[in-house]
This record gives sequence, structure tokens and C-alpha cells, in this order.
Amino acid sequence: MKHLLKMLDLTGEQISSILNLADQLKYELKHGIAHPHLAGKSLGMIFEKASTRTRVSFETGMYQLGGQALFLSGNDMQIGRGEPAEDTARVLSRYLSGIMIRTFKQEMVETLAQAGSIPVINGLTDLSHPCQVLADLMTVREKKGRLEGLKLCFIGDGNNMMNSLIVGGLKSGMSISVACPVGYEPHEAVIQFAGEHEDRFSLHREPLKAAEDADVVITDVWASMGQESEIKRRREAFAGYMVDEALMARAKPDAMALHCLPAHQGEEISVEVFESHADEIFEEAENRLHAQKAVMVILMKNEA
Ligand code: CP
Ligand code: NVA
Repeated sequence: MKHLLKMLDLTGEQISSILNLADQLKYELKHGIAHPHLAGKSLGMIFEKASTRTRVSFETGMYQLGGQALFLSGNDMQIGRGEPAEDTARVLSRYLSGIMIRTFKQEMVETLAQAGSIPVINGLTDLSHPCQVLADLMTVREKKGRLEGLKLCFIGDGNNMMNSLIVGGLKSGMSISVACPVGYEPHEAVIQFAGEHEDRFSLHREPLKAAEDADVVITDVWASMGQESEIKRRREAFAGYMVDEALMARAKPDAMALHCLPAHQGEEISVEVFESHADEIFEEAENRLHAQKAVMVILMKNEA
């Protein structure tokens, strides 16, 4: 494994190895056991979109691993003034041991990986949010003891989260059911991948149907970063797609509810569901730290 660009690139075994190491690093942190696997190494973190969790968890995670993280605002870099991504990657490869980037187009992440010589980690694109999904899978596995055979349901937009959860869940042996309005389906490459596992995948227009017997119900905002101007149209399209108590009643009695955050309580998730599952949701947020530390150790430990 050289990069973490999207869930489609990972095998089920690689996902499982990341989660195992994440569990170990979480244990070590909780028990005060030092784990400076990346001493002397630097991670550059390029942000072209806002972030709370990704920025803080990567930065503090790198510190806990004995390394250093540099926050690089896309607007303040020459890349924001048109310096080619290829040149940026070749320059940063001379200074750093890894790059984490949050940006719009998946092509930007793929270009940095191709042109540079150091590992690239996708910290969210319009297509994919692999770091979040690794944390989500870790959280489910922690609570339920396994992933294989469980039913994961995603209600809402066919966005980076739905795309990544479908692929990550299927590769982990889960059954996936999603519900989205017409015109808001997941990416075609994801639909194609899901089609290869059609015995474990279903796409619904009726949220209550998708939630039947689910072990975990997940949702995300209706308008992602960059889609703010579409919010009115999207609110209309997603009417009836709120994860509320009536929807959770269709899932298993002990079903989890997760949200990558930030959440709009009362929109895609009701206040009641959010607050009654807050322990799971904030554990999920914490697990970003542990899952990303595992990714960084696996990708960067052999880098200069
Ligand atoms: N879930 C997530 O990626 O959060 P941030 O946008 O705060 O990084
Ligand atoms: N789908 C959301 C996720 C935020 C973490 C977005 O892209 O804005």
C-alpha cells in the first residue's frame, strides 16, 4: 500500500490490517504507552476546504507518533495561484515524508500521488472520504465485535460518504442498503463495484425500506462543501430523508447511528436520534485519530 486515495484501491485485508493497528494504537494511547513510529518525519496537510476533525486529528496524531505536521492552506500556497499540482508534488516530495490533502476533485489527489514520490492521503474529495470511513468501520467493529455479516444502511446524498461507505462496507463483508432521491445516486464507479456484489447491495428510494433490520444507520449532510448554493433545491429533494426515531424503529433494536459530522440536527438527523446516539457519534469522531495514525504508520514508516 503506497497511498490512501480512495476505498476502491484497498483490499478487504488491507482495511482489516489498518483497523487492527488502529485498535492497537488506541490501546497504547489510552495506557500511556509511547509509540513514536514516525519520529523525525513530517506530514504536509493541504486544505482547500474547511475542517475541524481532519486537521486536528492528523496534526495531533502526527505529534503522538513523534513527527511533525504542517498546516498548508491551499489559498496561501502557490498551487492556489496556478502552480501545477505535478510541480507541487515534486517539490513537497523533497521536504516531507507524506502529504494529506483535502480538496474538490479526486484527480488532484491522484495527480499528486503520480507526480510525487511520497505517500498521499485523501483527507476528503468530492468523490471519497476514506479516512472517515476507516474510522466508521473501526467504530462499528469496536461496538459489534465484527463487520462481516452486519447490515449497514446509509440514508441521504450519494456523496463522498455514501460512495466510500458502500465500497468499504462491501469489502469488509457487510451488506449495504442505501436510500437516495432520484438524481442523487452514488458515483458510477461505485455503482459498478456494488453491482459485482449485488447479493449484498441494494439501492432504495424509500428510506424506511432501506433501514429494515439494519445494524448501523449512517447519514450525512444534504449539501456538501462546495454545494452551498444548492441547499434550497436539496432540502426539497431530501424531504422525508431525515434519520429520525420512526426510521430507527425499522432498524434492529440495538442499531447504531453514526454521522461523520458536522451535522445539521433537525435536518438529515433528528435531535432525538443524534443525542441518543451521541456516545457512538463522538467515539466515531475520536476514532479518526486512531485510524489515521494507523494509515500514517503503514504508509510513512519506510519513508525518509
Ligand atoms: N468529518 C470530517 O471530515 O470533519 P471535518 O470536516 O471537521 O474535518
Ligand atoms: N459530505 C460532507 C462531509 C464532510 C465531512 C462534505 O463533503 O462536505
